[in-house]
Amino acid sequence: MTKLASLDDLLVHELQDIYHAENQILKALPKLAKAATHPDLKRAFEDHRRETEGQVRRLEQVFKLLGHPVKGKKCEGMAGLIEEGKKLLAADAEPEVLDAALIAAAQKVEHYEIASYGCVCTYAEMLGYDEAHELLGQNLDEEETTDERLTALAESVINIEAEEGSGEGEDSSR
Ligand SMILES: [Fe+2]
Repeated sequence: MTKLASLDDLLVHELQDIYHAENQILKALPKLAKAATHPDLKRAFEDHRRETEGQVRRLEQVFKLLGHPVKGKKCEGMAGLIEEGKKLLAADAEPEVLDAALIAAAQKVEHYEIASYGCVCTYAEMLGYDEAHELLGQNLDEEETTDERLTALAESVINIEAEEGSGEGEDSSR
């Protein structure tokens, strides 16, 4: 059973959760990149995979700074989000619609991570772990930037789709 007697315990518990989550994401991102059609979306997933490798290294540094073994604890939340993503990959979907769906799935993942990093950043700051706080803050910034990038892509992809949809047949009638 997880023992949560102090904020320190909670920090370690949350770090183990996000460490496991990041490792699950590392495995899932290449599949998302492969399934994506839009080249910008493919690139976003590939870039984020590389970024995630760095995030995992930062988390390992944080464990060391806190004097804890580098260890994950199964993150059921992320497992569920990834499971839902896998179902999308198996769906009979139009490529543009699948791209939009992949963005939605990825943004759910990003929001989970933003929540986690937001919490561990706050705990590290409260406990005076300045170096750990700095490293976790870098991960948080990257997740937020990725989320914004996905929003921008979603809007452009959705706009293109809408344009194609409403434009159909119009050219031939003119
Ligand atoms: Fe991440």
